Amino acid sequence: MKTLVVVSHPYPDQSTAIKALQTAAAQCEEVSVRNLEQLYGADINAFDVEAEQGAAEAADRIVFLFPIHWFNLTPMLKAYLNQVWSYGWAFGPNGNALRGKPLQLVVTAGATAHTYSAAGLIGSSMEEVLTPLQASALYVGMHYLPPLAFYEAMGRDATTLEQFAERFITCIRSPLENSASR
Ligand SMILES: Cc1cc2nc3c(=O)[nH]c(=O)nc-3n(C[C@H](O)[C@H](O)[C@H](O)COP(=O)(O)O)c2cc1C
Repeated sequence: MKTLVVVSHPYPDQSTAIKALQTAAAQCEEVSVRNLEQLYGADINAFDVEAEQGAAEAADRIVFLFPIHWFNLTPMLKAYLNQVWSYGWAFGPNGNALRGKPLQLVVTAGATAHTYSAAGLIGSSMEEVLTPLQASALYVGMHYLPPLAFYEAMGRDATTLEQFAERFITCIRSPLENSASR
């Protein structure tokens, strides 16, 4: 079971959580990591589309790992969708490359879990915030899995981050039939 972890963080020098999770993923067998900013900086037009599509085709499961910034995905991850999930490859005629593959979102967020609830400040759950990615995954025929979120990510102690990293690794290494039942 090969897993591709696509990582994006626009401010890598300021990252603690995503950086630790990327490092944990990179140590796993059968997991390949592609960090968009490490590969392409912040250039939304610099993608090696063939390489990115090849990496996705070679994977049985795809994971997006990114921080929530303004209740959204990062600019380079959005650009990745624009460029890599192309017509005739991900959708449209013969666009079946991602069909049936699971998509697992793993996000870090500064706010509390309560903030991401109907009773919280934003009145929306994390699942609702991530609806555009769910829609995109379903549009290209992927199997969308429940997202995994690390809340209050800033200033968490190392042990709490390590515990979440263990959950993350268990999640991305679990057999597919178990991946949705966390
Ligand atoms: C520009 C910016 C916008 C942010 N917007 C949000 C937000 O909308 N919701 C939230 O929960 N946290 C938000 N945060 C906090 C980040 O999600 C948090 O810093 C990040 O997930 C921690 O991971 P890191 O250590 O890898 O940066 C924001 C942070 C930045 C820098």
